[in-house]
Amino acid sequence: MKALNITTVINEYQFNELSKTDQELIQKAKDATANSYAPYSKFSVGAAALLENGVIITGTNQENAAYPSGICAERTTLFYANSQYPDQAVKVIAIAARTESNFIDMPIPPCGACRQVMLETEKRYKQPMRVLLYGEKAIYEIKSVSHLLPLSFDASAME
Ligand code: THU
Repeated sequence: MKALNITTVINEYQFNELSKTDQELIQKAKDATANSYAPYSKFSVGAAALLENGVIITGTNQENAAYPSGICAERTTLFYANSQYPDQAVKVIAIAARTESNFIDMPIPPCGACRQVMLETEKRYKQPMRVLLYGEKAIYEIKSVSHLLPLSFDASAME
């Protein structure tokens, strides 16, 4: 037996250490949470995607009385961005989440399904997509989705 160690690199920032562009993208993700439809979980998630052409697309989680029919903010945002601008790579996605009272303290961890969709976006445009996960106490920057999903399944496995 041999152990295979996979290393993931996450950079932690305070908000004021980020570039103006990253701060603005995070602000858009935070603002987007106001448009979330989350009557069941009362957990409002917003995402903002910066495209290669400079356009910023925002999206939110959209819940449903039939719970599995709902969708997360990340997938809403990326599917919309990729539908409206199929030729534009997504350079950065920022994600923020709040309860009814506050933005959460620690960076919002995207669910597994969203990580898989984020990976597909990165592979599709053949360039890394940076991910910014907002928390009131810290912001995580991940320079490529591949770091969020080690041992991932992608098209190369089917070749
Ligand atoms: N949710 C997201 O939109 N993104 C995440 O990264 C985690 C979870 C949503 C799904 C559901 O509407 C609510 O948050 C509670 O799980």
